[in-house]
Amino acid sequence: MQQKHRQILVTNALPYANGHLHLGHLVGYIQGDIWVRFQRMRGHECYFVCGSDQHGTPIMIKAQQLGIEPEVMVEQIHQEHAQDLADFHVTFDNFYKTHCPENEKIATDIFKRLQDKGQIQTKTIQQAFDPEKNMFLPDRYVQGTCPKCEAVDQYGDNCEVCGATYSPSELKDAVSVLTGAKPIEKESLHYFFTLSQHEELLKQWATADHLQPAVVSKLQEWFEQGFRDWDISRDAPYFGFNIPGESDKYLYVWLDAPMGYMASFEQYCKDHPKVNFDDYWGADSKTELHHFIGKDIIYFHTLFWPAVLHNAGYRMPTSVVANGFLTVDGQKMSKSRGTFIKARTYLDQLGPEYLRYYFAAKLNSGIDDLDLNLDDFVARVNSDLVGKFINIASRCAGFISKRFDGQLSDSLHDQALFDSFANASDVIAEDYEKREFSRAIRRIMELADHANQYINDQAPWVLVKEAGKEALTQQVCTMGINLFRVLMVYLKPILPALAEKVEGFLAIEPLQWHDAQQPLLNHSIQPFKHLMQRIDDKRITAMKEAAQQDLDSKVTAVAEDNNCIEIDDFMKVDLRIAKIVLAESVEGADKLIKLTLDIGEEKHRTVFAGIKSAYSPEDLTGRMTIMVANLKPRKMRFGLSEGMVLAAGPGGDELYILSPDSGAKPGMRAK
Ligand code: MSP
Ligand code: ZN
Repeated sequence: MQQKHRQILVTNALPYANGHLHLGHLVGYIQGDIWVRFQRMRGHECYFVCGSDQHGTPIMIKAQQLGIEPEVMVEQIHQEHAQDLADFHVTFDNFYKTHCPENEKIATDIFKRLQDKGQIQTKTIQQAFDPEKNMFLPDRYVQGTCPKCEAVDQYGDNCEVCGATYSPSELKDAVSVLTGAKPIEKESLHYFFTLSQHEELLKQWATADHLQPAVVSKLQEWFEQGFRDWDISRDAPYFGFNIPGESDKYLYVWLDAPMGYMASFEQYCKDHPKVNFDDYWGADSKTELHHFIGKDIIYFHTLFWPAVLHNAGYRMPTSVVANGFLTVDGQKMSKSRGTFIKARTYLDQLGPEYLRYYFAAKLNSGIDDLDLNLDDFVARVNSDLVGKFINIASRCAGFISKRFDGQLSDSLHDQALFDSFANASDVIAEDYEKREFSRAIRRIMELADHANQYINDQAPWVLVKEAGKEALTQQVCTMGINLFRVLMVYLKPILPALAEKVEGFLAIEPLQWHDAQQPLLNHSIQPFKHLMQRIDDKRITAMKEAAQQDLDSKVTAVAEDNNCIEIDDFMKVDLRIAKIVLAESVEGADKLIKLTLDIGEEKHRTVFAGIKSAYSPEDLTGRMTIMVANLKPRKMRFGLSEGMVLAAGPGGDELYILSPDSGAKPGMRAK
């Protein structure tokens, strides 16, 4: 069934240009890419743009730390991201950037339009200021003790231990993360976008027509809390665009970041005069605009952004699509556990399509988190893709090339079976359209089972030996190849490189969605070559090791003498300085204290320590100690204990926690 021709613009969240891409980032890019490829296969006009998000304080600070200009750093990272994404077959029509003339013009224009409508107001505010560094501090750059629960080392906006939200000035013993100086309160004039005036507009827009049900509910909560106007200016020093008419005030990165979608598309239009910018962004646009994002940035995309667009005279988005967060082997991506896998670390070991397939098999239209379980990943890819799908072709193709000179027969052996494959087209298309990718894959793999069953039943390897069964053998193998081809159509949005290989092998034009309806008959194909290999477990081990080594560079060796250990053995033990940010009693356990530890790049390591007979929780919060950070996590009745704190003594109330000398910082490794 052919639908009407659609014109669609899809965007993906712009990755920050201050770090490497990791597998979590790829969830959204792969999801968006599959959807876009599907639309294109259906014959729709579908553009796909993205770029680097290059402004803001973290980027400026990171460049300072590296001793280079921010322009240079963001350019390098831009190249790296572009390469990573291309290597995962993410087909952006344009991967541009926010620090560019197009975006500056768009941002300035929009700002002025909002200003002309009276929707920008100024207000003097008090803000934390680092007197040493001479700059205002974003909330995240102030740390101190939570005013509610007393957990130490909490950020200036909210407490990650008790969840309280507050302003940096409410933190106790606050320090600047940049210099350690005590921040002072300083006044500054800021610009605000009058978000509070657009509640009605947003309430009307924020419905299931444009958003996922879970996102609509989230928004409902936000509506109930009421809106504050949005602070869209930042003081110098800042890496960004100047506020029109101001020399030392800048547009907040989150104002110009989504405009980067427009800038990227505008640049694309310049090179492709047939595509018209206004058709996609104009207020009365008839086209579709979909933003794919991760669930942590819903607020920016469903409140600020539509309100800004509408008030600046542009269309509002057709939809904002959020994806859940990725965990690896059930854990949050964590550097110290080697579950933090960079895009490149993966690509060094494994093909991109395995991950595309696995993500697709896990993705649905919701915003639940998804887990990359590495054992399941290997099992699933090997059994589904290689064992079921590729197997169909490899069981039939050899006979066609060896016995029939590459020629497919001119009729189908089992028309009804072929029809059942062709008829699945609409439901599978519907699954793709609704982003129910896991459901699509379930259906496709069921069909693959039917195809394998057919081949088992017909057993061409038996037929080929029987006299007078030549034509039948050719027909059966032709049938198998045709079933394979239909499944390739259905999998092509997920496996584009494999599809290209298959198109070469079948000697056909690039497969379109409607090709599933017509069998390929009386046609000459190429000899069968390896299409896809099974994943070797060794690759996974190598990838995990590389991920670990991204952090610590030591390779370990086993000591020969049982009593002595080699230095390398000792190096296996990841001894770290830890700060006890919170110590709590554990209900039902009179020996245990639950410790929340800051160990540098990880702020919330949980350890259950049997030290209650010697310490009370109040004495421990805020103290420094030493922990074994790479002890295998242990599941206890009260939760997961992720390491061990070092203490000495005979036990009972005679137990002494080890502490480093003053000056040691959380995360330092003992050596
Ligand atoms: N620069 C902003 C987006 C601006 S869009 C106008 C940003 N950048 S990011 O680099 O932090 O994240 C890029 C995308 O990756 C976002 O959609 C984010 O939600 C997503 N993810 C980051 N970590 C992720 C996981 N662990 N899992 C799934 N998605 C993740 O946010
Ligand atoms: Zn707290």
